[in-house]
Amino acid sequence: MAELLRGERVTRLFGGLPAVDNLDFHIEEGEIVGLIGPNGAGKTTLVNLISGALAPTSGTIRLRGSVITGLPPHAVAARGIARTFQIARPFPNMTVRQNVVVGALFGAHHPRLGMAEALAKVDEVLEQVGLATKRDLLGSQLTVADRKRLEMAKALATSPKLLLLDEVMAGLNLAEIETVMALIGRLRSSGMTLLVIEHVMKAIMGVSDRMIVLHHGRKLAEGRPADVASNPDVLREYLGARYAARVGSPEEMRDAPS
Ligand SMILES: Nc1ncnc2c1ncn2[C@@H]1O[C@H](COP(=O)(O)OP(=O)(O)OP(=O)(O)O)[C@@H](O)[C@H]1O
Ligand SMILES: [Mg+2]
Repeated sequence: MAELLRGERVTRLFGGLPAVDNLDFHIEEGEIVGLIGPNGAGKTTLVNLISGALAPTSGTIRLRGSVITGLPPHAVAARGIARTFQIARPFPNMTVRQNVVVGALFGAHHPRLGMAEALAKVDEVLEQVGLATKRDLLGSQLTVADRKRLEMAKALATSPKLLLLDEVMAGLNLAEIETVMALIGRLRSSGMTLLVIEHVMKAIMGVSDRMIVLHHGRKLAEGRPADVASNPDVLREYLGARYAARVGSPEEMRDAPS
């Protein structure tokens, strides 16, 4: 497999404190990498750094060997990287379709899509995420689950090569989580590469080829899901507390809303 993304010694400070701390990471083409870790570990900050929403304090991120650090978000999107937002904030007075069309018009399409092509792309991704029948609803009318679907649709409309999903399953019920997992599987089959952040452990372990565990902005562990789940450091710092709090509960695989 060819390497798609590589971060070298990536650091981002906030008020002098590192949210991401000297992190080395890579993502292979076609891979699904799961990114987990406690609240505040730096997962969303890493997505912000990869997508250009934030610049690193130091370090370099390369997409297929070309440096992308320092590029603004639209330039990163044009190179084929899309992300969802952990807190979905659709434009409330725009329809689902209108919310998504921006991504279709200004994504990684070369040459850019015309309006008719963009609207066709919008309908295609709304079908993919299960929002087709709600395409004329306003952003303000959507449930939590549908807002998560809309986040995915907005990202998918850009036709990304690499998709960064930041807790798209949080707040969903088990049936809804399964539909998102199935969608992730289909995206991978279509050739997409994914970085998936999730606290829902069974889901993230089920979809990931490889997992990276962050703790205080550093890599605590990395490897196959089964190995990561039995790693003593990961059990101590993250999974142990989560499992201990949920053993025997029907909510075992669910996270408290974060
Ligand atoms: N814009 C910001 N300004 C100041 N501090 C920030 C900012 N964004 C993140 N932080 C801090 O950086 C650290 C990492 O936050 P981040 O949101 O990346 O964690 P996370 O792993 O995504 O957590 P969660 O699981 O709760 O979403 C936290 O201490 C957070 O308070
Ligand atoms: Mg986060």
